Amino acid sequence: MRVMVVGSGAREHALVWKLKSSPNVSHIFVAPGNGGTDQIATNLPIAAEDINTLALAAARFQIDLTIVGSEVPLALGIVNKFQQSGLLIFGPSKESARLESSKSFARTLMTKYGIPGPEYRIFNNYSDGYKFLSNHEGPLVVKADGLAGGKGAIVCVDQEASINALYDCMEDKVFGTAGSTVVVEEYLEGKEISVFAFSDGEHVSSLVVASDYKRLLDGNRGPNTGGMGSFTPVPEWGSDFASEVRSRVMMPVIEGMAEQGYPYKGVLYAGLMVKDNEFKVLEFNCRFGDPETQVLMPIMESDLLDVVISSIEGRLNLKPVKWRQKASVGVVVASRGYPGNYRKGQVIYGLDQIDLPALAFHAGTARDKEHPERLVAVGGRVLTVVCSAETLEEARDSAYENIGHIEFNGSHFRKDIAHPYVEPQKKGVSQQHG
Ligand code: AMP
Ligand code: GLY
Repeated sequence: MRVMVVGSGAREHALVWKLKSSPNVSHIFVAPGNGGTDQIATNLPIAAEDINTLALAAARFQIDLTIVGSEVPLALGIVNKFQQSGLLIFGPSKESARLESSKSFARTLMTKYGIPGPEYRIFNNYSDGYKFLSNHEGPLVVKADGLAGGKGAIVCVDQEASINALYDCMEDKVFGTAGSTVVVEEYLEGKEISVFAFSDGEHVSSLVVASDYKRLLDGNRGPNTGGMGSFTPVPEWGSDFASEVRSRVMMPVIEGMAEQGYPYKGVLYAGLMVKDNEFKVLEFNCRFGDPETQVLMPIMESDLLDVVISSIEGRLNLKPVKWRQKASVGVVVASRGYPGNYRKGQVIYGLDQIDLPALAFHAGTARDKEHPERLVAVGGRVLTVVCSAETLEEARDSAYENIGHIEFNGSHFRKDIAHPYVEPQKKGVSQQHG
């Protein structure tokens, strides 16, 4: 099959890398891709959001199957568009992707189907929200309903902060129409984990878990980022926990979506807050996680193409999705200044010294225009260096040993990923998002 992957991050590079090992994949296109995907596939210079041009390209290049990495094209209806054009695509429809693109939709569905989550209220105008917040001290989480580039959930330590956040969303419209509806949630403490399953609209695959370190600096300090590292498995994850998450979260969502008339096909990603062996759903995402995918693809035993096709064809129940019993650690190398402004065009050295089983999945990299043999950093998150091994310690040590070879002016990475004393996302009320 000729396959196209939509996106340009290290997540998409990891998906392409995994697809390359599938015997039934003959050619891979990536739109728009990056300097890493360029080396193992054909990059097409089409933005992930440009769903009409992507559909035209799929027809023109005789692409048999498209796999979508990021949420924006899904929320824009790329799956609906491709299906209308008779093109095969993996991911949820625009309506099903509301599990991520509308937090009020997701919370309402969770309540209807008894899925554990925080207390919440939905507001469609500022004055109702203001009245509610005036009677609540906090801490609370104020969330823009729609997609806001990962910045729409604002953890508010007190009443003043939550009223300000509500004002920003609904009156100042800092997130545009994404903030026209706001969800106000009880603030949950605990440890965050990311759980993934494939679904074909009816069946749910085995689950797999990973962590995500969202803060920029060691010790979970500094601003929130798109993710600075990840590891799998996490200590809490055992077979009892997995089967509880499956029966109390994943199955009810899939059954609920089908019952509502929006069967969910694709990857379902639940962000859970875990405390004292209890868990609640923080959010649903309608796609693979970044940087979790970078640590999961190297330990996926099943053929990704096979799983995707089974999911599209509604037969995920016939063959289990298998994961190797291994640990995997990924560390993100970022540009100095990220998540704020950063310089572009720094030459990256040492990529040829990354030794298997370590891998470097690219995000913000591109070929240098004047010296095409060189790669330069062009994004905030530049690479994820990943290693899998028998134990978490081995995987971590090897990932760090390999990352030591990478050098570019202003490169920065966290030194404490998968360190036993630094939990990925331990909540304290001083933490701010957005
Ligand atoms: P979301 O935009 O819903 O994906 O949330 C983004 C991040 O905000 C999560 O990964 C959590 O770190 C934090 N968060 C969201 N909801 C809550 C909550 N109810 N309590 C505490 N933290 C939350
Ligand atoms: N791991 C966070 C995300 O993919 O949204």
